[in-house]
Amino acid sequence: MRSVLFVCLGNICRSPMAEGIARRMAADRGLSVEIDSAGTAAYHVGELPDPRTIEVLKRNGALFQGRARQVAHADFERFDLVLAMDASNLAALRDRCPPEHAHKLHLALEPVGGGDVPDPYYGGPRGFDENYAMLVEAIGAWLDRAPA
Ligand code: 4NP
Repeated sequence: MRSVLFVCLGNICRSPMAEGIARRMAADRGLSVEIDSAGTAAYHVGELPDPRTIEVLKRNGALFQGRARQVAHADFERFDLVLAMDASNLAALRDRCPPEHAHKLHLALEPVGGGDVPDPYYGGPRGFDENYAMLVEAIGAWLDRAPA
């Protein structure tokens, strides 16, 4: 894996969290991986991550720099792995992805047994900490597959 795009709905909670975690873990391991994130929806395009995501990342020494954007057609060509936070976002990606790139689409939690990173947007801050713990485990497993 040389490049990975993390995808959630709004690109303000889960996928920027995953991006921040992956950037820090890749740097810690000395891996050169292109890492980005995007949303299947356009509601929050141009916004900073949710303050609760920023807080969890800061508290854990991970950082995210960027603004929300929507998944673009070119992303399916550009990235060699496109990781969805949940089944509904995976379905939205499958609808848009050209067949020759469909093998790149996976659930982010696939290497740790699959399932969804729950949408934390309408919940309390604990949801963000739970998301963080799930993503650290899963991203560690994905990076184990990355060439040094
Ligand atoms: P995310 O969370 O997909 O993890 O960024 C959400 C952000 C915004 C909304 C839903 C989920 N929303 O409905 O606006």
